[in-house]
Amino acid sequence: MRVLSGIQPTGRPHWGNFFGAIQQYIDLQEENDGFYFIADLHALTTVRDAKQLRQNTLDAALDLLALGLDPDKATLFVQSDIPEVSELTWLLMTGTPMGLLERCHAYKEKKAKGIAADAGLFTYPVLMAADILAYDSEIVPVGEDQIQHIEVCRDLAGSFNHCFGETLVLPKAKTLDHGAKVPGTDGQKMSKSYNNTLPLFGETKPIRKQIMRITTDSRPMEDPKEPEGDHLFQLFRLFGSEAEIEEMAGMYRKGGFGYGHVKKAIADASENYFAEARDRRNDLEANMDYVEQTLRNGAERARQVAGEVLGRAQRACGLK
Ligand code: ADP
Ligand code: TRP
Repeated sequence: MRVLSGIQPTGRPHWGNFFGAIQQYIDLQEENDGFYFIADLHALTTVRDAKQLRQNTLDAALDLLALGLDPDKATLFVQSDIPEVSELTWLLMTGTPMGLLERCHAYKEKKAKGIAADAGLFTYPVLMAADILAYDSEIVPVGEDQIQHIEVCRDLAGSFNHCFGETLVLPKAKTLDHGAKVPGTDGQKMSKSYNNTLPLFGETKPIRKQIMRITTDSRPMEDPKEPEGDHLFQLFRLFGSEAEIEEMAGMYRKGGFGYGHVKKAIADASENYFAEARDRRNDLEANMDYVEQTLRNGAERARQVAGEVLGRAQRACGLK
């Protein structure tokens, strides 16, 4: 199966990015033909500093490789290295109803907040659709917030096929049960835009401090509590083994413990969980030639596929 996903190089990756998206990339690379890219064209809608964007893009490659993405098993590349995607975006754009884009969350939210939106933000889902369709992708692993965009992609591919004949492959979104919506330090969805993230990489001490400051309710120590609805429990569950999760759930139901105990368990478990990736990231950072060569190889492979699909789409609509 062709599996594809993209991640924007807009800042340090956080637990939500890993458990919602990146972990799936790594798992799926074993049995599938994985295509994973760094969405620098999408990031351009928010990062308006050339040096920063370039650095973020390389950082994102380091992050993915350190977390276990294996270039011998999957294709890793940078979005803007594949100009065919931008061409396909135009073909799709000509058949995109304005109303469809007006209903998209990212645009609606900005508009509701009174932030001036540009055409890049408005048409963001069309570029995302082209990203997916350019590689005949069948499965798109993402967090819950991206599902609407995959639906838009299916709509656009469906109407292209309806108009010009069967040309584009309709993809399916894939989310994980527990990783679909990782809560942040304030209990809301963890997101760079909410300033509530816990980073995957970085010095452990300040991260521990952030964990100890996670907001909690003011439940008295002795009250039993249902674990399921508690965001600290949800965070612990990301790292614990089945037995540890059961044990923690038991403690919640019994009551009589402080939240500090859970926070410490989260800090220990997360440090342990990402230790290997941290070491690997340091090694890779000292070997940037390898990272850049990996991206060039990935782009070459991705361009081949995107060129074929674009040609097919161009012929279908009478451009060739
Ligand atoms: P952010 O919201 O922090 O800007 P991105 O939009 O860059 O994150 O998301 C990159 C990937 O990580 C997407 O597939 C997204 O669905 C996933 N993701 C982001 N935040 C979370 C979260 N809190 N829980 C689960 N998945 C998430
Ligand atoms: N919009 C996605 C995000 O913010 C990133 C992305 C761009 C993407 N193109 C994609 C994800 C194609 C999956 C498939 O997270």
